[in-house]
Amino acid sequence: MNIILLGPPGAGKGTQAKRLVEKYHIPQVSTGDMLRAALKEGTPLGLEAKKYMDAGGLVPDSVVIGLVKERIQKPDATGGYMLDGFPRTVAQAQELDSILGTLGQTIDHVVSVEVPSSELLGRLTGRRTCRACGAGFHVIFDPPKKEGVCDKCGGELYQRSDDNEATVQSRLETYEAQTKPLIDYYQKASKLRRIDGVGQMDDILGRIQKVLG
Ligand code: AP5
Ligand code: MG
Repeated sequence: MNIILLGPPGAGKGTQAKRLVEKYHIPQVSTGDMLRAALKEGTPLGLEAKKYMDAGGLVPDSVVIGLVKERIQKPDATGGYMLDGFPRTVAQAQELDSILGTLGQTIDHVVSVEVPSSELLGRLTGRRTCRACGAGFHVIFDPPKKEGVCDKCGGELYQRSDDNEATVQSRLETYEAQTKPLIDYYQKASKLRRIDGVGQMDDILGRIQKVLG
């Protein structure tokens, strides 16, 4: 099963993807995580991407399309994958369709996780992530047992550099202008499944599983 998780920054794409990975045994393919990994390694691609990420804009289409094209052909993706944060522009979606055409694949469901923008800033500024295993937390909505320490592996929790108020504002504007049109794109392709992304994280997981069947 090939799935796209669509939604604004802070909608819970990463949170739900990590839960879905355990249920469906298909990898989470997060372009944001891939770009942050490249930056951590200090690759030219990572350093270039940082400029766009810190400004709350989008990394050029050609860069992320290249990453995804390579990633979905890895052995662990033969049974399907969950795209998180990709595509993010209509051009990326069109290019994805063309790549999948050549691979003889298709997207089964596009899950649109819908959260009012008034709730997103608080979710993002309170997010904490484990440096070691990538687990996600929230200082209020999903706090770790011990402040600053990952419940799962004991690793150090950090705050993403783009989770400050000014960058979040730009990210939300970028979403409205460049990513939101994808709702219409996938609606027209009859692939869109809308999910209410407000409520308990496990309830939202249940809603997603219901539409995935
Ligand atoms: P990326 O890493 O994808 O960031 P994003 O899209 O802004 O999304 P987030 O990761 O912020 O949100 P999320 O929906 O995953 O939320 P989460 O589950 O963590 O991209 C970063 C940057 O990379 C982009 O700005 C861009 O520059 C670049 N980039 C990436 N992909 C690109 C592409 N395809 N093209 C071009 N550029 C690209 O949840 C957030 C918080 O809320 C957590 O603390 C969580 O605990 C909490 N939370 C989750 N669910 C709930 C709930 N139900 N109730 C309360 N709190 C909740
Ligand atoms: Mg994410």
